[in-house]
Amino acid sequence: MSEPRHPLIARLLELAVDGPIVTAHRGDSRHHPENTLPAFAAAAQLGVPMQEFDVQASADGVLLCIHDETLDRTTDAARTLGPGGLVAQFSAADLMRLDAGSWKHPSCAGARIPTLERALSVMLPTCVPMIEHKAGKPQHYAELLRSLGLADQVLLQSFDWNFLREARRLLPTTPLGLLGPGPEATAMDDRVHAAAREVGAGFVHWHAPEVTAEAVAAVHAQGMLLVTYTSDVQLAWCGGARLGIDAMCTNDPSAMLAARDQGLLRRG
Ligand code: G3P
Repeated sequence: MSEPRHPLIARLLELAVDGPIVTAHRGDSRHHPENTLPAFAAAAQLGVPMQEFDVQASADGVLLCIHDETLDRTTDAARTLGPGGLVAQFSAADLMRLDAGSWKHPSCAGARIPTLERALSVMLPTCVPMIEHKAGKPQHYAELLRSLGLADQVLLQSFDWNFLREARRLLPTTPLGLLGPGPEATAMDDRVHAAAREVGAGFVHWHAPEVTAEAVAAVHAQGMLLVTYTSDVQLAWCGGARLGIDAMCTNDPSAMLAARDQGLLRRG
C-alpha cells in the first residue's frame, strides 16, 4: 500500500472484522421499490451500516436515483410520457412526477424518483452511501458532493473506470470503487490492481460468484475493501464471511441482518 488509508475505508475495514458489512442494494429493495426514498428510509430504519444505489442524469443535468437508463421497468413513464423513454431525454421536473412505486406493488404507488441529494440526506449520518454512477458527468457529481460538504463521506463507484479517473481529479478526497467485471477487466487480475493504483481506489466491487480467496487476499494486500454484489441467501453470506469479503450487497437486508444476529456472518 503506497498511500495511507482513507478514514472512511479504515472505518469500514474495522467494521468488517466482525463479518461482511450488510449493504442494502438499492435500499430495502425486497420490501420497497428500489432506489426510492421509502426503500432508503426503510433500510436506514433496519440499521444497515451501508446502502448501495444507482444514479443517472436527467436532460438538465440533475443527478437522480434510478438503475436503468430506460424508464419503463420502474416507472409509469410508458403510460404518461410514451413507451421507450430514456432518463436522459427528460427534465428532472418531468421525471420526478413519475410514479416509481406502482410497478413493485399497488400499495407503493406515489413513490418518486429521488434526487441524489435527497437520497443522501435520508441515509446520512446512519448509513454510508455507496453511490453507483450509471450516467452523468463527473463534474456534476463533484459539484454536488462538494457543495453538500460530503465529498469524503460517501463512496463513489462505477463500471466506467474512465469516469473514476476523471472523478479522482475532481474529487481527491472521495473513496472510489472499481466495479467489475467490465470492459477493462473480465476477471480480478492485474488489470484491476493497476487501475486501482491509478485511481487510488479504496475498494473493489465484484460479482460475488466470481470472487476467490486469492482475489480477496490480493485486494486486501493493497489496503482496499472487497465488496460483492448481489447475494440474497444465507449460503452466500456465510461463504462471504469465510472468504473474508468486507461488505456484501443484498436485496434482503433484513434477512442478512438476522443472519448476522444469529452469528452466521462471523469469520472463520
Ligand atoms: O453496485 C453493485 C451492483 O448493483 C452492480 O450492478 O447493474 O446491478 O447495479 P447493477
